[in-house]
Amino acid sequence: MTEILEKRAVSTLSAERAEHTMGVVKECLRIGRAFLGEEHMKDLEYAALLHDITKEYTQEEHIEVCRKYSYELSRYDLLAKGVMHSISASLVAKHEYGMSDEICNAVRYHTTGRADMTLYEKILYIADLTEEGRKEKIFRQMRCAVTRQIINNKDIQERYYNLDKILFLAMNSGLTELLKSYRFIHMDTIEARNYYLAVCNDKV
Ligand SMILES: [Fe+2]
Ligand SMILES: [Fe+2]
Repeated sequence: MTEILEKRAVSTLSAERAEHTMGVVKECLRIGRAFLGEEHMKDLEYAALLHDITKEYTQEEHIEVCRKYSYELSRYDLLAKGVMHSISASLVAKHEYGMSDEICNAVRYHTTGRADMTLYEKILYIADLTEEGRKEKIFRQMRCAVTRQIINNKDIQERYYNLDKILFLAMNSGLTELLKSYRFIHMDTIEARNYYLAVCNDKV
């Protein structure tokens, strides 16, 4: 399956995005191994390989995939254009490759996040931003935080706490960027950010 998904990524995505995808695979495994056993690594690899598989579709193509698999798009889904690829990619993961709900949900929420995310969802959300191909300062800082506060941290409880903290900081800065550029913000993004703000303040 890995080979099939890699081939699809390389043959249907631009070279840059295919490279990003392979970077996310590597980063998902790096973060994943700090929390999970080897038996979970294939799932994380599949989620990473599929997360942006429809990223280069047009809006019409996203809508067509949703229609084909009877997914009812909300008004927010349609307005938050950056979110459409995570919806269509999760449908492709489920219906074309028979991926589990856990994998599909990681793909589905890699852009917006959501309240009370699963470990797979958190790992893919963060790995998408901290893969080594992302050179901007903010992402390099996040990658260093992952290394220092998670990978090199011997205390497993602290790793979980720091994962939520990094997740919150990533959501908060993503939201700031959306506001600055006057872009539509999906309700899942707002709920996710508020949820993890509360988690980091011990309020959930
Ligand atoms: Fe994406
Ligand atoms: Fe991505």
